[in-house]
Order: sequence, then C-alpha cells, then structure tokens
Amino acid sequence: MSGELRGRTAIITGAAGGIGAVSARLFAEAGANVVCADLSLEGAQAVAAGLPSALAVRVDVADSASVAAMVAAAVERFGRLDCAFNNAGIEVEARPTHEADEDVFDRTIAVNLRGVFLCLKHEIAAMLKTGGGSIVNTASIAGVGGAPNMPAYAASKHGVIGLTRTAALEYARLGIRVNAVCPGVVRTAMMKAAIAAAPARADRVAGMHPMNRVAEPEEVARAALWLCSDAASFITGDALRVDGGVGA
Ligand code: NAI
Repeated sequence: MSGELRGRTAIITGAAGGIGAVSARLFAEAGANVVCADLSLEGAQAVAAGLPSALAVRVDVADSASVAAMVAAAVERFGRLDCAFNNAGIEVEARPTHEADEDVFDRTIAVNLRGVFLCLKHEIAAMLKTGGGSIVNTASIAGVGGAPNMPAYAASKHGVIGLTRTAALEYARLGIRVNAVCPGVVRTAMMKAAIAAAPARADRVAGMHPMNRVAEPEEVARAALWLCSDAASFITGDALRVDGGVGA
C-alpha cells in the first residue's frame, strides 16, 4: 500500500518512541503530512527530520493546554487535521494491587487515559470544522483482559477502549471514525523497561503469545495506518487485537 493518506495531515503522539517513530515513517510513506508529537521534543525532531513533510511538537498529553497547542500547531502548519494516532503511553509498574504505588497509579491514568481523552477532545473539535477524520488510539491486550501486576496500566487501557467506543458512537454521523489497536508485547523501549523491572517476565514474554514471539513495532503501525485510511471506511468503534493470537 502507498498513497492512501496522500494530502492528509496526521498527528502521532509518542512519535519519539518505538511504535510511534515507525508509524510516523509509515504514515509519511503513505503520503501524509505528519505531526510528530512527544514529551521529548528532541526525539520528535529526530523522527520528523527524516520525513518529507513533517512538524515536530513537544506535547504532554496529560495537559489540556499542551494538547490544544499541538492541534493548533498542526492546523496552522498544514491547514487541517484528518488523522490522529493517539499512541503516547507509559508503563512503570510491576506490583500486585495491594502493593501498588498510588502516585504511579495516578500518573499512569493521567498519561494513558486522560491523555487519550484530551487528544480526542481537541482533535475532534478540529476535525468537526473540516468535515471529518479518522482516529486510532493505542490500547493494549491489557485493555481487553486482566494484567497481573499492572493494575493502573490495565485500568488505563480498559478506559481507552471505553473512550474509543463512546467517541465512535458520538461522531459516527459526523464523519469521524474512532478505533483502537490492542497490541500484545511489542519490541520497544517499553518492553525492555518492563522486563528490567521484573526479570522473571523475560522468559515468559514471547511464550505468552500463541505465535511464540513478540510483535515488531511495524506490525502495530501497519494496523494503525490501515484503520486511519479509507481502506477501513466502514469500521468504527473497534478494538483491533494485534497480539499474535493472545485474545483468540
Ligand atoms: P515507548 O516507551 O517506546 O514510546 C512511548 C513514547 O511516549 C515515548 O517517546 C515517550 O516520550 C512518549 N510519552 C510518554 N509520556 C508522554 C506524555 N505525557 N506526553 C507525550 N508523550 C509521552 O513505548 P511504545 O512501546 O512505543 O508504546 C507506545 C504505545 O503502545 C503506548 O501507549 C503503550 O502503552 C502501547 N503498548 C505498548 C506495548 C509494548 O509491549 N511495547 C504493548 C501494548 C501497548
């Protein structure tokens, strides 16, 4: 596939990270103007520098003014907003619920759940002005089933699917589609950090997938691109598993 996002403008949050950086490249190959947004401006700039039509923006998705400024920058630079891949997220816990740190819980919900809510809010407001668009949120297999020792992360990702379905219903008649991707474990910095926090996971991480391997970031990025594109024109409110069969 190529050219399926030609002339469209797409925001990608978490663009400096594993899944986001690969997505920025794939969306650009598909013809999109790509707004690379991340907490790390340097990281976003490094990704944007390699793309033909891109803008790097620093954003904290947990902060409403920051997210509003990201959307405004996209519209100012490229004239409109057509697509968004709300992908920024954190995973910093490895404890059962009775030992879980309350500050970690709050921060995880702030970034992963409030962050997606704020992105939806400001992106949809912009898309309504130009007649529609398509949004994909990154959830997780931890948003579909329970995830031992990750209570905040699992709660945040279940919430992302709830937000996705709700916005899909609210805006279906107004030309905005909203879907989610639910990756299994993906070979990124997040995976490495999770294994470092709980080394016992390392042996089990590939084997928990029926395909007996983890995902490459491209495999998630391709799904997000497809859902954003017109190839998925009658799909909204879905939470697409990209998990090597975990949820089968
Ligand atoms: P990553 O750690 O490589 O990238 C995450 C990016 O998000 C980083 O560049 C980071 O700077 C950015 N970020 C963090 N907090 C932010 C904030 N407040 N505002 C803006 N940007 C922020 O991780 P990865 O694996 O690429 O994760 C992307 C998404 O995929 C996340 O939502 C994660 O929860 C999800 N996911 C990852 C899985 C994995 O095994 N790696 C599995 C399932 C879901």
